[in-house]
Parts: sequence; structure tokens; C-alpha cells
Amino acid sequence: MAINMVADHAKWPETNDPIFGLAAKAKEAINKFGKENVIDSTLGALVDDDGNLICMETVYSELKSLPNAEIAGYAQVAGQPDYLEAVQEECFSGYRPNAYIKAVATPGGTGSVKHAVFNYTNSGDSILVADWFWSPYVTISEEVGRKVANFSLFNEKNEFNIESFKENFESLLNKQKRLVTILNTPANNPTGYSLSDEEWTKVLDIAKENAINPENKIIIFVDAAYMDFAGVGLERKKFFTQFTNLPDNIFIIIGYSMSKAYTMYGLRSGAAIGISSNEKIVNEFYYSCMHSGRANWSNGTRGAMSVMTHIANDPIKKKAYEAEKEKYKTMLRNRAKAFVDASKEVGLEILPYRDGFFVSIPCEDAKKASEELIKDNMFVVSLKKGLRFAVCAVSEEKCKKAPAIIKKVLDRLK
Ligand SMILES: Cc1ncc(COP(=O)(O)O)c(C=O)c1O
Repeated sequence: MAINMVADHAKWPETNDPIFGLAAKAKEAINKFGKENVIDSTLGALVDDDGNLICMETVYSELKSLPNAEIAGYAQVAGQPDYLEAVQEECFSGYRPNAYIKAVATPGGTGSVKHAVFNYTNSGDSILVADWFWSPYVTISEEVGRKVANFSLFNEKNEFNIESFKENFESLLNKQKRLVTILNTPANNPTGYSLSDEEWTKVLDIAKENAINPENKIIIFVDAAYMDFAGVGLERKKFFTQFTNLPDNIFIIIGYSMSKAYTMYGLRSGAAIGISSNEKIVNEFYYSCMHSGRANWSNGTRGAMSVMTHIANDPIKKKAYEAEKEKYKTMLRNRAKAFVDASKEVGLEILPYRDGFFVSIPCEDAKKASEELIKDNMFVVSLKKGLRFAVCAVSEEKCKKAPAIIKKVLDRLK
């Protein structure tokens, strides 16, 4: 007789993570056919042209130079005070909004999503995210009895679909009277789209119109996990200044992650940064997140926090770190350009790409397309609405070749 031991709310389908599963298959193919004959575009991490994970020298030399006690020790529940200062500087880089701001350390950007979803919605509420989205938003929401609704990220002209955003935003807000919406920008995963400053103004105009009703509580979560690899210079951070002078019932949370910006994926460090025109509202945020932190993971990774603090507070280290990051940003940009240009050449339809680790290819049966591509030794993640190609993990040379292979498979499946 089969017995269920887990409680009802903790029973989930017995599936393994599909991305890590596909990555394992890609590794097998590399062992069998040689790395030059395989395109492994599965994982969302920076990989060099030889297929090795990029680990920033300026980051790891700092980590390894820390006294053991600074790596081993507990961090404070809210995060080390100097880290909480440094993370704000690193996040806003001169585009700090004029508002009350407080940060709380989290284990990666994932922890900040958890804080926003759990602490700013009521049981049974829906959060609003784009229809091209990072699937853990659903996992995190379902885990705590919340649901996820979608707006269409793009209209027929492949522009940001502000009408769909407005319609879904207002219908959920009218029903729930509070709404958390997650905007994963700049450098959206999976599409590589970044909202322009003008598009941000439109989003905030919609929020402000709806904030006239004092019963409405609007929370905009900006998932900025890939921000450091977006735009030229700091152009993709300018939108932060638009969070100045917002009404009290619009609260902004930035999900900051050290995973990509410091190539510290496994060291689990990030922050939730709350922004409000009202000091009481950011204090409430801080204590609410601190309670959740204690309840979920106790505290963050002390050594990772120290790495950021030491680099941020030493002009020489900071310059070297920025130069190293810039090198990888350029590498990523060149790879993405190669993929986008080659797609145009062979007539492969892709979604509008502006920045970041991924490019998306809309298609009907993405699961089938992903399976067929394996026969060509190409490993690409399938999503509900298309394929996600990780330019972060594939050399420029292979990024040039990939679109023709994908186009051939998609044409065959038509
Ligand atoms: C869209 C998005 N948000 C947030 C994260 C947060 O990642 P982490 O918890 O590793 O910082 C990721 C990582 O893959 C991501 O793709």
C-alpha cells in the first residue's frame, strides 16, 4: 500500500529540474563527441569559449584572502551593516532615487523574490508576471499558497505590451486591492529584453493612476539579477531615479543578486532593497523581511558579503573588479550580436533582445524542438512559448552557427 508521509500542502509532482537534467545530457554528449561538436546552451552562467565556468579573479582572490573567521562566522540576520551600505551603492551606482531606502541581505536574488511574494500578498492572491518568465516565480508562489497571473510581454509589433500590463494589473488590483508585480528587467530572463526609461515611466504612470485610490496597495518588484551585464556603461540603471516621490501606497523592492555580477552563483548572496517616500513603510519592510529571514535561512553568507564590501570600499580593487566585469560584458555582447545577426541572416524569428544572458525563439512545440535539436548535438532549454538560448554559455563562433541549425529544425517541425 502506498503511503503519503508528506502533508497535503507539501506534495508536489516528482520531477527533477529540467534545466539541470538537460545540462547533464549535454555533458554526456561532450564526453562522447568532443566539446567542439556540441553546443551546450543550457545553464544561465557565464562560461568561457572552452566550456569552463568563468570565476572572476578579482572576486576569488578577495574571498581566498579573507581570514577564516570572516568566512566561517555567522552574519547578522539582516546582513552585515557595511554590506547593507555597499549593496545599495553597487545597486544604484549614482542613480539612487531620492527616497527612504533600506536593504536586507538574502541568499541570492531568489531570497528577495521569496520575501516579496510572501510578505506583500495575502493567502490565495495572484502575483503578476510577464508570460515569458523565470519559472521559480511560480515555484516560490505555489509553495506559499499564492498564484501567478501573466500579462503578454510583447504585442504584435514585438514591443513592450503596456496595454496588456495595464489590463491585467488593474483587473487583479481591483479584485485583490493589493498587488505584487515582478518586472525582470534589465536583461530579462529568458528574452534579453530591457524596459526603456520611457517604458518605465508608462508603468509608473499606471501605478500612480491606481494609487489615487488609497485602498490600493501596489508593490513593484524589480528583479535586477542580470543588471550588471546590461547596457553600455550605467545607462540601464537610470530608471532607478524614477522611484523618487512616489505615493506612499506604491512600494518598490529591488531584487539584487551577487550570483551573476560577481560570478558567485553557489555562494548565495543578494539583497532585497525597499524604496518608499515614507520612512515607516521601509522600516516595516526591514523588520518584516528580517523576521522571514530568521524563519527561513537564518542569515546569509558572511564571506560573500565581505567580498563585496572589501571591493566596494577599496578604489584599486573596485577598479580592477569593474575592468574584469567589463571584459565579460563585452564578451557577452559580442556573442549575443553574433546570434542576433545570424538569426536575421537565416530568417529565424527571435524575440527583441537588448541585453543579458539569453535570447528567446518563439515556437509552437518547444519541447519537441528541444528534443530534435539534441540529435544535432545542440542543447537548448524549452519553455512554454519557445526556446531559450543561453548566449552566456556558448562561444561567439558557435553563436554564429546556432541560428541556422535551429531554423532547420523548426522548419522541419512545421
Ligand atoms: C530571472 C532571475 N531572477 C533571479 C535569479 C536569482 O538567482 P540567485 O538566487 O542565484 O541570485 C535568477 C537566477 O537564475 C534569475 O534568472
